[in-house]
Amino acid sequence: MGKKVVVFGSYVADLTGTGEHLPRPAETVFGETFRIGPGGKGSNQAVAAHRAGADLRLITKVGKDVFGDLALAFYEKERMDTQFVLVDEEAATGVALICVDEKTKQNQILVVPSACTRFGDRDLRQIEDIIRNADILLLQFEINMDALEKAVDIAKEHEVLIVLNPAPAREVSRELLSKIDIITPNEMEAKALTGVEVTNEESALQAAQVFHRMGIPSVVITMGEKGAFYSGGSGQGMIPARLVKAVDTTGAGDAFNGGLVTALSEGKELEEAVRFGNTTASLSVQKFGTAPSMPYRREIDREEAAADLR
Ligand code: RIB
Ligand code: NA
Repeated sequence: MGKKVVVFGSYVADLTGTGEHLPRPAETVFGETFRIGPGGKGSNQAVAAHRAGADLRLITKVGKDVFGDLALAFYEKERMDTQFVLVDEEAATGVALICVDEKTKQNQILVVPSACTRFGDRDLRQIEDIIRNADILLLQFEINMDALEKAVDIAKEHEVLIVLNPAPAREVSRELLSKIDIITPNEMEAKALTGVEVTNEESALQAAQVFHRMGIPSVVITMGEKGAFYSGGSGQGMIPARLVKAVDTTGAGDAFNGGLVTALSEGKELEEAVRFGNTTASLSVQKFGTAPSMPYRREIDREEAAADLR
């Protein structure tokens, strides 16, 4: 069994419509398909790690409503532990309104996290032990920042490895960043946090160096179909993505992060973990949806074995 991974993050219901292009401001576009599915960056990353074989616990929060019920039913089907899926008495379960362009497969997301931005002191007391006893804590930016900061402090105090996926882009203190062990922004989030426009390996390295100067030892910048750049651990470099035909890229970053922490929990080096994250992401984009499209370990292993032969 690998090390213990805890994901503390959002659950939201994804309401996804596809259409022939993304609506512009004030424009109404006819859609083709519509689906409701489990989403939210925290939950997606947890599902990805769970399916990839990690010893995983998810801390999240839902409301007492139909979307919250949907979450619990999904976790049960996945055989995921729901002990730390907290239920807010007042707030609604979060939702994300997602538009997907059928041609380019690009997406646009309006996320309203509601319940999962309401982690209070009582909740923190309830989840303190599980964070303290983790080996790896994975966080994103869809929960309330004060709770995230407290979780980071608990983890830091107990030498838990802290992985931050700073998504969606948000303002954050330097102090918080200096406590992170591994940061995993995409190009846009890297730009927001470092000021460096990331377009290729060279600029990714520049952004990584800014992160290192902030006190973050390891940096992984995901660059969509280009792959991911890593710096830290054993070295640095670009790990190209696998060439696949994408159906829906929503949640690809979440798949990557879930895969990454799973590999790290098995003691893999950063470079190898990035490769594993790439494979996880490349499989997820070949299926519609976010959490439901996360690949199982046997699929990841099969894909990695096939790639070794190519
Ligand atoms: O990263 C993709 C996720 O971001 C979606 O599942 C949506 O819920 C948004 O929060
Ligand atoms: Na997908």
